[in-house]
Amino acid sequence: METLFCKVDPVDPDKKIIEKAGEIIKAGGLVAFPTETVYGLGGDAINPGASEKIYAAKGRPSDNPLIVHIAELDKLEALCKKVPDEMYKLAEVFWPGPLTMIVDKSSLVPKETTGGLDTVAIRMPDHNTALEFIKASGGYIAAPSANTSGRPSPTLASHVRTDLDGRIDMIIDGGEVGIGVESTIVDLSEGEPTILRPGYVTREMLSRVLGRVDIDTTILSGTDKKAPKAPGMKYRHYAPKGSMTLVEGETGAVVKRINEEVAAAKAKGLKCGVLCTLETEEDINADVKKCVGSRNDEAAIARSLYRVLREFDEEGAEVIFSESFKTDGFGQAVMNRLLKAAGYNVEKI
Ligand code: TXA
Ligand code: MG
Repeated sequence: METLFCKVDPVDPDKKIIEKAGEIIKAGGLVAFPTETVYGLGGDAINPGASEKIYAAKGRPSDNPLIVHIAELDKLEALCKKVPDEMYKLAEVFWPGPLTMIVDKSSLVPKETTGGLDTVAIRMPDHNTALEFIKASGGYIAAPSANTSGRPSPTLASHVRTDLDGRIDMIIDGGEVGIGVESTIVDLSEGEPTILRPGYVTREMLSRVLGRVDIDTTILSGTDKKAPKAPGMKYRHYAPKGSMTLVEGETGAVVKRINEEVAAAKAKGLKCGVLCTLETEEDINADVKKCVGSRNDEAAIARSLYRVLREFDEEGAEVIFSESFKTDGFGQAVMNRLLKAAGYNVEKI
């Protein structure tokens, strides 16, 4: 299949391109599109055949449910068995935005879209191109991140092209995304509202609206024997091809340890990559050094994280080391993705 590649102004996308994308979706095809978090791979959420195509294009296990994206609040009721009050409260504050909510699904949503579950994940992205595209497509777009399963999520259209060229109908290039890690997922389908995946919208932000909010204990721990409730969180994910280790401790000591590890790996003939920061870059010695911004700026780290993980692959890093970051606020989402990329391989010093 030939994949159409179309550049747009993300704020004011060309109407003809959006119309074309809408036609492709209505005919059961697949279109990758930018959102404020990461690029999504869109298909018609209420067409079971389209969801099956999404799984096939990504090489994704079909028990891993998709998020349904909407552009207008009046599309919500048709997707849900009942819209809980909490959902309206959170939508008012955080939509459009990087928050996905899980609720019991209606019969409109096919099981192919929800990986066989009776619940559905829904979000309204904060991105003009995404919103225009969803409207032109009938209003319900099922979209996982537009990467091959197991690879870092795409933050640039070129990442989507690397993974999915020839496997999907169209890629809409809206430039680099703003946030860089996937949306926060909160489960409203049973018991207390519970965060299943951390993101830009933090527990503190949700608590200000809802009061008590729990958090899935598997999020920052690879040792918890319990399976995470979001099926996708159990897979090794976000991962570069090289084997990755996080080093945690006082910054000076971390730099020293990383340099020792790099020297040892080099002695074995391995090409080394280091994910470093403005504060440590100068003191790190490695074949491939990637700076993600200041240690104290989680938003900057989030924005460059997946791009840098892909660059390690492109430059052939076989072993990768990274410093660790704060785990409060948005830092929790950043560390959750880094820990997964490293397969929870952490050296504490
Ligand atoms: O920011 C985002 O959320 C991006 C953009 C494209 O919107 N999408 C995204 O989709 O990250 P994906 O498929 O890569 O991740 C969706 C996660 C998976 O871990 C999946 O298991 C979980 O959401 N999920 C979806 N529906 C669920 C449900 N009904 N119950 C529990 N987990 C669910
Ligand atoms: Mg994904």
